[in-house]
Amino acid sequence: MKRSDWDRLLRLDGRVAVVTGAAGHLGAGIAEGLAAAGARVALVDRPGMSMGSLVERLKSDGGFAECFEMDLQDSDSIRNGCARIVAEMGGVDILVNNAYAGRGGTLATATAQDFERAFRITVTAPFLLLQVLRPHLAEGARRHPGGAAVINIASMYGVVSPDLRIYDSALGSNPPFYGAAKAGLIQLTRYAACELASERIRVNVISPGPFPSPAVQTSDPAFVERLTSKVPLGRIGRPDEIAGIVVFLASDAASYLTGANIPVDGGWTAW
Ligand SMILES: NC(=O)c1ccc[n+]([C@@H]2O[C@H](COP(=O)([O-])OP(=O)(O)OC[C@H]3O[C@@H](n4cnc5c(N)ncnc54)[C@H](O)[C@@H]3O)[C@@H](O)[C@H]2O)c1
Repeated sequence: MKRSDWDRLLRLDGRVAVVTGAAGHLGAGIAEGLAAAGARVALVDRPGMSMGSLVERLKSDGGFAECFEMDLQDSDSIRNGCARIVAEMGGVDILVNNAYAGRGGTLATATAQDFERAFRITVTAPFLLLQVLRPHLAEGARRHPGGAAVINIASMYGVVSPDLRIYDSALGSNPPFYGAAKAGLIQLTRYAACELASERIRVNVISPGPFPSPAVQTSDPAFVERLTSKVPLGRIGRPDEIAGIVVFLASDAASYLTGANIPVDGGWTAW
């Protein structure tokens, strides 16, 4: 491969990336990384979530982003939102399923509704987005040597259980419906990777470890300390450390990578 081809390998110029949950801690970092790599980014979040300052930040850095309101718990909202994205952005080459919302809990406190809501946003919404955007991703795949890319954001708790001893209360614990739904997303990734391979749509999943938000870092440093003690690398993660892997998976550098679950957890699941 020529030097100029290597230089282009991780660039995403001319591609459209959809990021759900873009107003959040990791979503904003993922959007920044994709925009810095040259992608035009469709920022998706719930109605009323403010993303104006993120758009300004991306644009002042030479990037391009547009906001799209969508309630991922609602299939009509997903269909209408996708139609707006395709019409305004001119297609879709990269889809990042990152959104999540839900309370804490244990088996003792969880309800059936907790499970249903967790599965709807974690498994059903990525499925619907993929179903609606599939023809556009397939079209995008024909334009790029490495094809189109779907990147799902699961969790290390889709693979291992949390250690309940690190939490102060049952309702403050990472809940079983979260991990069960994330495990579902990891398996949906494998099914999608195999079904969509012939269309050159690559589907991979990232399982982040501990990335507590700035609010949690400020309000509960003792909890952050307990998290840190479980990480071989000895610290919590930064959003740009997820963004870098997302850019890689979206790029032609990952052209032979599909169906993989990539832990980005400082070694948490390697002990
Ligand atoms: N932060 C961590 O430590 C961590 C660890 C492992 C996995 N993850 C996963 O990474 C992803 C991002 O996490 P985060 O920490 O940035 O969370 P966050 O709460 O900061 O962001 C989640 C975003 O999703 C949006 N969202 C929620 N419900 C929605 C809906 N119905 N429609 C549209 N948007 C909706 C929220 O408004 C929010 O902006 C999640 O999938 C989470 O499970 C996070």
